[in-house]
Formats: sequence, C-alpha cells, structure tokens
Amino acid sequence: MAPMRILVFGRSGQVGDALAGLNGPGVAVTALSRVEADLADPEVVAAAIERHPADLVVNAAAYTAVDRAEDEPGLAFAVNRDGPLFLARACARAGRPLVHISTDYVFDGSKPMPYDEADAPCPLNVYGASKLAGEMAVAGTLDRHVILRTSWVFASHGANFVKTMLRLGTQRPELAIVADQVGCPTPATDIARAVLRVAMAVRDGSARWGTFHFTGREATTWFGFAQAIFTEAERRTGAPAPRLRPISTAEYPVRARRPANSRLDCSHIGLAYGIAPADWRAGLAAAMDVLCPERVAAS
Ligand SMILES: NC(=O)c1ccc[n+]([C@@H]2O[C@H](COP(=O)([O-])OP(=O)(O)OC[C@H]3O[C@@H](n4cnc5c(N)ncnc54)[C@H](OP(=O)(O)O)[C@@H]3O)[C@@H](O)[C@H]2O)c1
Repeated sequence: MAPMRILVFGRSGQVGDALAGLNGPGVAVTALSRVEADLADPEVVAAAIERHPADLVVNAAAYTAVDRAEDEPGLAFAVNRDGPLFLARACARAGRPLVHISTDYVFDGSKPMPYDEADAPCPLNVYGASKLAGEMAVAGTLDRHVILRTSWVFASHGANFVKTMLRLGTQRPELAIVADQVGCPTPATDIARAVLRVAMAVRDGSARWGTFHFTGREATTWFGFAQAIFTEAERRTGAPAPRLRPISTAEYPVRARRPANSRLDCSHIGLAYGIAPADWRAGLAAAMDVLCPERVAAS
C-alpha cells in the first residue's frame, strides 16, 4: 500500500515538529516552514497545496504570542483567521481534507466543568478571538475538516511552559506560579498521534468531520504543572528545585486575560476516533529525557 501522505504547515513549531516526527514506514510527512509557505499569502498557500499531493493537510501554523497579540491584532488575525481561510479554500479546490489545530482560549473559562464541543465560545483575548475566527473560516469553507482544540501544549522542541520553568529555575531561588487557572497539559507528540489516527480514518473512509477536543488526561494548575516539572528535574539531576509559591491570576498581571478554566471534555473524539487522552506525565518524562537527561552516577 502507498504510504499515507500528510502535508503540514508550521514545520518549526511544537506541533509541527512532532508531526514531522511521524515520518516513517507507511507515513510520508512533508512539513513546510513559514519561509516555504507563509500562511498569510493566499497564492503561496494555494501553490503549496497543488505542489504537494496529500491524503491529509494539517495546519499547525499559528500566531501564538498570546500577550503580543493584544498589540498586534492585525497580524494575529492575518495568520489565525485569514491563513486558515486560504488553506481551507485551497483544500476545497484540490479535494483535500484538513485538520486545523485550535485552542481552549476560544472559551472564557467561566464554566465550572470541562467544555464540550457544543459549548458556545467566548474568547477573552485577541489571540482567542483570532483562533475562533479561523475555526469559523475553516468550518464555513470546507466540509471535510477536523478542528482539533487542544490546551497547554509542551514539547522538548519550541517555546513552552516546561522550558520556561527549567530556565527560570536556574536563575531564581523562588518562583511565583499562578495556581487558580486549571487546564490539561498536552504533549505535542500526543497531538501528532491523534492527527495520525485521523489520517488513518481518512484513508479507510471512516473519518468523522467537525470540531473535537483533545488534551492530556489529568487537569492541574500552572502551579501543579510546575511542581511536576521540578519533581522530574530534581529526580534526574539531583539539583535542588527552586521554591514554588502559589499566586493568583490577579497577582500576575499580563497583557492578555486568560480563562480560569481551560479543561476540555475529550469524550467526543474518543467516540468518533477511539482516541483516549493519555497521562501527560508520560509525555513530560519523554520531553525531560531530552531537556534534562538523567545524571549518570559516577562509579
Ligand atoms: N502552545 C500552546 O500551549 C497551545 C495551546 C492550545 C492550542 N495551541 C494551538 O496549537 C497549534 C500549534 O501550536 P504550537 O505551540 O506548536 O505553536 P508554535 O510552537 O508557536 O509554532 C507556531 C508555528 O507557526 C508558524 N507560523 C507563524 N506565522 C506563520 C505564517 N504566517 N505562515 C506560516 N507559518 C507561520 C511558526 O513559524 P516561525 O517559527 O517561523 O514563526 C511556527 O512554526 C496552534 O494552532 C496553536 O494555536 C497551542
């Protein structure tokens, strides 16, 4: 059987890199960086879709600077709304299905329970609004689409909370971490595996289209996530972790408002694709194998 061909936009990002890592027997991934395919340019996007035949196209590219987006709404919307629109149009013309990665930040976080796909989005910040506009552009343009909303993404590659914690932990004896925002960390590698499952379903004709939530399994706070990171780091290196001090969102002023509750109900994707959320601590351990290798005891 010919290998499954997956075309990825956003090669250098956390999820794009994990998707590129799917390359192997039976799976041929072509991953394009921003330099190769700028999502904000409709002609470039259309040409890339025509040039690279694929069973599935994946949009892992986005403007992800949540705070900066408050001051650059034009740029955020150009990448996060117009880019997916151009991609969806090109996919529709070429007859290709599209997985578009989106975010928990489309919700305002006021629901006391995990959000499911039927809940009404209500973003608190420009980034969330631009991502929601991108979702609407995809859903309104292309029937064969999967919008995959995820949260708190981390990987050994790219910029993320894990790497920020490890860096700050070497610079300061104490770190104040927000303890009243709840969400589920999600390893980028698990997102890539979920996308592969969708690609396999596309191949065998069992794909289900629409919006799905997918995150790691256990909810925690940023404070709880930091504790898990430093527990892993201390176990591996023996170096003492910084003191962690829980603080409230109000005590950590940033440009963009964040949802207090980012939990996403992932049962829908389980029923449609048989994809179950995994323990993010396993993904954390795998990322730490790269970021913070265990010190080998001298004998
Ligand atoms: N990070 C999170 O915690 C999180 C949480 C929920 C959802 N998500 C969603 O998950 C997806 C992947 O996020 P991520 O964390 O992997 O993001 P990331 O690491 O910030 O990577 C974003 C990628 O998008 C590319 N990009 C930016 N502007 C572009 C443009 N105009 N044309 C083409 N490529 C462009 C970047 O290229 P350059 O490197 O060249 O700038 C980079 O490769 C995004 O849709 C994001 O909204 C992320």
